Amino acid sequence: MSTSEAAEETATSWHDGQTIQADEVMNDLALTALTRSLFKFTVNPDTADAIKHGMRMLTHSLLKRIVLPTAWERLPTPGNIRFNRAMTRMNNAIADVIAEYRDAGEDRGDVLSALLAARDDNGNPLSDQEVHAQVMTLALTGIEAPGATLGWVLYEIGNNPEVAARVAAELDSVLGGRTPAYEDLPKLEYLGRVINEVLRLRTPMLFLPADSADRPRRRIGHPRRPGTDLQSIPAAPRRPVVREP
Ligand code: HEM
Repeated sequence: MSTSEAAEETATSWHDGQTIQADEVMNDLALTALTRSLFKFTVNPDTADAIKHGMRMLTHSLLKRIVLPTAWERLPTPGNIRFNRAMTRMNNAIADVIAEYRDAGEDRGDVLSALLAARDDNGNPLSDQEVHAQVMTLALTGIEAPGATLGWVLYEIGNNPEVAARVAAELDSVLGGRTPAYEDLPKLEYLGRVINEVLRLRTPMLFLPADSADRPRRRIGHPRRPGTDLQSIPAAPRRPVVREP
């Protein structure tokens, strides 16, 4: 529900004729949806703000931090100082939320409650550090990809009036003006195909580890040494394909 609520809040904040920066707005929507799915409840509004701000900074600077040498991260540049402050503030806020959830000891129907209730094979709960790491993994993986995809979906629909009309007609007939629930998704069949095509043409994944070879094999005619990583480039096939049933 948190995702559809966040989407509804975003959509109702727009007015007719307004210009939006689709990639930024969709990234923010993905961020809000993700933080609400992780923790439905935060005692202090400052905690929610620290987490959102930290995650926004993290996703924005992720690529730069992967590409640049790690020595650069230690330089006291204004950007690095801001980044480190935001990370400290976010980490403290996440630690506070974990402590508060543990104290309350109730299932709030969100991802953090599920992580705290999880038990390993020996019946032991996750430590605070493990829960923290899971939250960070979800934050790192769950914002940029859906945010970018949604931005491209809006772009493609906006540039293809016929597609826009078919999407609008399907939404009207399936939903009749109400906000979609999870159960409606299979019925939004045409929209699903539009999103799949956008994922194919505008994938947010530039590189994927296709295979980590532990024995020699030949790919596209080239021998590979054991231990060589093979990267696939899903962004390569950009040709539109018409798939009508
Ligand atoms: C349009 C939306 C998304 C796309 C296109 C996408 C795509 C992908 C891809 C291609 C991978 C890599 C798989 C591999 O290495 O074989 C991946 C991994 C992952 N994704 Fe997503 N994802 C999306 C949304 C999300 C969301 C919303 C979450 C969580 C809230 C999420 C969590 C993860 C996690 C945890 C991994 C595994 C990371 C690892 O440990 O290697 N993703 N995703």
